[in-house]
Amino acid sequence: MRLDKLLSRLGEASRSECKALLKAGRVKVNGEACRDGAFSVPEGARVTLDGRPLDTRLTRHVMLYKPAGVLTAREDKNQRTVMDLLPPVYTALECMPVGRLDKDTTGLLLLTTDGELGHRLISPARHVDKVYLARVDGNLDGADAEAFAAGIELSDFTALPAKLEILSPDTARVTVQEGKYHQVKRMFGAVGKPVKELHRQTFGPLALDEQLRPGEFRELTDEEEAALYAAAGLNHEQ
Ligand code: URA
Repeated sequence: MRLDKLLSRLGEASRSECKALLKAGRVKVNGEACRDGAFSVPEGARVTLDGRPLDTRLTRHVMLYKPAGVLTAREDKNQRTVMDLLPPVYTALECMPVGRLDKDTTGLLLLTTDGELGHRLISPARHVDKVYLARVDGNLDGADAEAFAAGIELSDFTALPAKLEILSPDTARVTVQEGKYHQVKRMFGAVGKPVKELHRQTFGPLALDEQLRPGEFRELTDEEEAALYAAAGLNHEQ
């Protein structure tokens, strides 16, 4: 990729600002000042700006511990979004949330720059399992587990069978295969036990890293990335 395009993709400078940066010799490729925006940066080259090494990977996958109170959106005029929790390079690279968690829902949110990957993971045809911990208003019982397993009927669709494991009278772990709008809340609502708190523990092969605190993120490991591409039915070379 051209050096000026790379710097702008990484959000380091606009194509016009690049000219000045390059002219001033502030950008080095493999230790040599490079003043030519059209220079084709070789794969794996070390690029620095003012001596700061740049992470030049254009494909990124992020696991975020979404806290309550932020929107799952790329941007919003008035409210904080999950993108505000990540360094600006992720916005520059158009890293996007895969599906959405409600503003008050916490837990694992995947974000990726790979649109095809994200698209496939949320496709209804793919049935990617998601596990949530729910605290509800009411006492859960075996009849609720049976209703979830049979497929809860909602006003506009019948949910696919879901697994409900009751952990205490008002908490349960629920595994769903789809991700329609407010799905889990609507399912509990349908059995008369509205959700008070909802937390996502897993998304397909990914489990929320226990080291992460709310609002923190990390990039996926190579193993997680491979498992995710497999879950999406995509070939993946690292
Ligand atoms: N189901 C919901 O109802 N809310 C979420 O945030 C996620 C799944």
